[in-house]
Parts: sequence; structure tokens; C-alpha cells
Amino acid sequence: MRGPHNIIRLIRTGATFERTGAMKVVLDAFEAPLMMRYAIRGLVWPFQWLGYKGDQKMAPAPRALNALGPAYIKFGQVLSTRPDVVGSELAVQLRVLQDKLPPFSMAEAKAEVLRELGKPVEALFSSFSEPVAAASLAQVHKAHLADTGDAVAVKILRPGIERAFRKDIDAFYFAARAIEVLSPSSRRLRPMEVITHFEGVVAGELDLRLESSAASEYAANTETDDSFVVPRVRWHLSRRRVMTMDWMEGISIGDNDALDAAGHDRQHLATRALQLFLSHALRDGFFHGDMHQGNLKVAGNGDIIAYDFGIMGRIDEYTRRVYAEILFGFIRKDYQRVAEVHFEAGYVPAHKDVDEFARALRAVGEPIFGMDASQISMARLLSYLFEVTERFGMETRTELILLQRTMVVVEGVARSLDPHMNIWQVAQPTVEDYIKESIGPKALLKDMVKTARILARFGPLLPSIAEAALIKQNSPQPLPPTKPQLSGLPWMVFGGFLTGLTIWVSKGL
Ligand SMILES: Nc1ncnc2c1ncn2[C@@H]1O[C@H](COP(=O)(O)OP(=O)(O)O)[C@@H](O)[C@H]1O
Ligand SMILES: [Mg+2]
Repeated sequence: MRGPHNIIRLIRTGATFERTGAMKVVLDAFEAPLMMRYAIRGLVWPFQWLGYKGDQKMAPAPRALNALGPAYIKFGQVLSTRPDVVGSELAVQLRVLQDKLPPFSMAEAKAEVLRELGKPVEALFSSFSEPVAAASLAQVHKAHLADTGDAVAVKILRPGIERAFRKDIDAFYFAARAIEVLSPSSRRLRPMEVITHFEGVVAGELDLRLESSAASEYAANTETDDSFVVPRVRWHLSRRRVMTMDWMEGISIGDNDALDAAGHDRQHLATRALQLFLSHALRDGFFHGDMHQGNLKVAGNGDIIAYDFGIMGRIDEYTRRVYAEILFGFIRKDYQRVAEVHFEAGYVPAHKDVDEFARALRAVGEPIFGMDASQISMARLLSYLFEVTERFGMETRTELILLQRTMVVVEGVARSLDPHMNIWQVAQPTVEDYIKESIGPKALLKDMVKTARILARFGPLLPSIAEAALIKQNSPQPLPPTKPQLSGLPWMVFGGFLTGLTIWVSKGL
């Protein structure tokens, strides 16, 4: 029975919320019914002394979460990416949640390395520094490999962090279930689903093997990207709780004075940061979901270095094509077309009125394009767009919200490097390039080549596959004699024909 444990935990949480003034903010954000407010606050009130006071300088909600520890801080950070759940006001407040904690000791760090890598730190590394950075989940040390002398970064999970999270997440589930039972109207906010989403995000960060594999996939995708680098993972020194990668030195991308002093071209850096992010999202469908200034540096040669691959976003090919077409429609101010794309993709239910939707989209686009260049924001366009599409019955998609949120962050990074940057002007070539590649004649060709390849491989098998299905369907009946070898031939011819056609078309282009 975990019930009593969880109740005690939740009372402490409630008491902290009450004491910091966050209770009212949260109940307001969730539009809690009056009865529920009285019930919760009445229950918690006598226990206020159990709650933490928190840092007086912070706004109530982040103050409460900060005081309650790592799981709550992370939860707040995840909720700040879900304005669909907490409303946009609270989401903005939660963005200030900083993820900094005192480091754990060198002795503990060394014990983790020994346990995970099976050898003492002294045997693996010729030097091993004090932590260079410490957050709620992990800390990073600088080291040199004993055999080659290469400089590496060793990221180590905080000891016992998994168990601490498990307990808090159990309490979150308990609370979500209680809320669903006590207030059926809250179900529209899907409390259980929000916790599951949170658990998924955290699971990704509590297993550094997942971060290592994200880092290497990201590195492979971006290998040929100009002026962009990702540290290489040293797999033989990486496990679930320890990750080792090449050390990459740079100036923080948020430090304009240092960048200027080193002679970097900030305008160029701003342009690159935005274009890289867009092309990762559109071209690869795999983007860095946590691109704040703390996770980006600038190397001596001007390359942008990315760190921290705990939160990555994925967008499937279909969605990318649809959104490229939507963005393209906005660029050309063809709102009717943007509306149609939504209907064709099945994002907006067919019974809604296309013309009315197009008018709503015009109200999204016109004010933004009418702004002064230094004010135009793609992130804002997307956020207004999602508001409208939600109103027209489109389901919220977490990967698109992460995309929009990250775009806010990347635009912020770019603007702080170059306050006069025109974001549309910088973004447009990347979006148009992708469109040429993904929905123009070239894309048609690529699709045909793909189809032809698959057909050439599987085509000859299709008749026997179909036959097997037929046999299965009619199995009790006796079977007529068949000639499978011969029936493969037409498919081979057809596959060959398609391949030929494709080559012919490609020559003509
Ligand atoms: N490969 C590396 N080379 C140099 N510094 C690194 C490297 N990896 C991480 N760091 C430093 O450590 C900090 C924290 O690492 P990060 O992966 O962002 O951890 P967290 O997930 O705790 O934010 C980074 O901001 C960066 O300054
Ligand atoms: Mg980081």
C-alpha cells in the first residue's frame, strides 16, 4: 500500500503551495470549481507549517516547485511546455525555473564511475576535475583519458535520483487519479496523461544511454552542417548512469562581450542558430528540444557547439510536409490554401467551415506580417496558429508544442546575439529549400524511386502473399492448383518499368 505515503507527500506539497501563495495561482489556472477550492484549502490549511517557504524573490508557482525539489522542478519545466494544460500565463511563469543545485561530492562521483564502468577513476583517467556544472539530475566533470590523453566530459547522474523521482511520480499519479475521481470535469485536462507524458520525458533523462544514442544520432544527421558540432560519445566509457564524450571548449553563446572580444560575428551566429534549428526540424525531423543559452557555446573557429541531448523532438515525415506547406502558405499569405491543407491532412474535422477557418487564419497571419521586421516571430505565428486550430477541433500534439516552445527559445538566443534580426528573412530560405526538396518535383521523384525500390523487392512476392492470405481465408476448402513462379513475372516487369520511368524522368529534370 503506497496510499499513506502518498497522502503525506501530497499534504506537504499542498502545504508548500499554500504557504508560497501558489495554491491560488494553480486553482485559478485550472479553473477549479468553488467546492473543490474549499475542500483542498480546508484540508491543507491546518498543515501549513509542514510546507516550505521557498525563495521569496520568486513568483509563487516556481517558488513552491523550487522548494519541493528536483522532481517538482522538472515537472514545472515540462508543464511550461504545455500551455494547453496550464494556460499560457502559468506556462510563462514556470519558464524561469532554473535547474541548478549544489554538486554532489567527488567521493560519490568516483563511486558512481567505479560502479558503472567497473574500474576506479584513477585507472581510466589521468585527471578528473571538480564538477564544472551541476543540475538537478546530473553533473559534469572534465577529465583526460589515461590511454590517449584526450580531454573528455564525464556526465554523472545524481546518486539515488531514480528512487527519489519514483516516489514523487507515484505521488503525482495518486494525485491525478484523486483529482479525476473527485472532479470529473477535470478530465478534459487529462491529468493522468500529463503525468504519463512527464514520466516519459524524465525516463529519457534518467538513462544516459538514451542521451548518448540521441547525441550520436544527432551528430550523424548534422555531420555536414556548416559551423555546427556535437561532441562525440565515447561509448566504451558510457553506461546508464555515466556518459563520456569529447570535451569541447567554447564561449557561452549568451556572453556577448566575450564573443565580441574573441572577434566572432554575432549576426552570423544568430542567423546560423536559427537556420540550423529549422533545418534539423524540417529536414531531419529530429531537433534539439532544449536549446537555451546554457546548452550552446561558440568554439574558437566560430562553430556553434550543442550540449545536453536529454530532450529531443521528433516530427514524422508526413507532419513535416504538411507544416512546410502551411508555413509556405503563410509566407505567400494564401490563407485559403493554408486552411485547405489542414482539412486535407485531416487535422481539422471535415464538418467545419473551410472559409471561416481561412478567415481565422488571416487574423493569425496579417497582424504578424504587418509588424516591424525586428518584431516578427515564427514562434508567435505557430502559437497563434495552434490556438486557432485547437478552437477548430484539432488535437494538441506534444511534438508540435515542443517545436513551438523551442522556437521561442531559439529566437530568443538569436535576438540576444543580434537584436535587429529579421527572423522571417533568415528563416525563409530554409523553409523554401525544404519545400523544394519535399513537395516539389524532386520530392515526387524521390517518392517514386522509393516506391519502385520497394516494389522491385517485394513485387515478386506479392502474388504469393495474396495467395497465402486467400488460403488462410478459405482454409477448410480444398485448394485449386497454382503456379506461383509464373505469376511473379508481371510484377518484376512492372517494378523494372517503374525504375526505368523514374530514371528517365530524373534525366529530364
Ligand atoms: N562535451 C562537453 N564539453 C565541454 N563542456 C561540456 C560538455 N558537456 C557538458 N559540458 C558543460 O557542462 C554543462 C552541463 O552539461 P549538460 O549536458 O547541459 O547537463 P544538464 O543536463 O545537467 O544541463 C554544459 O552546459 C557545458 O557547459
Ligand atoms: Mg544543460
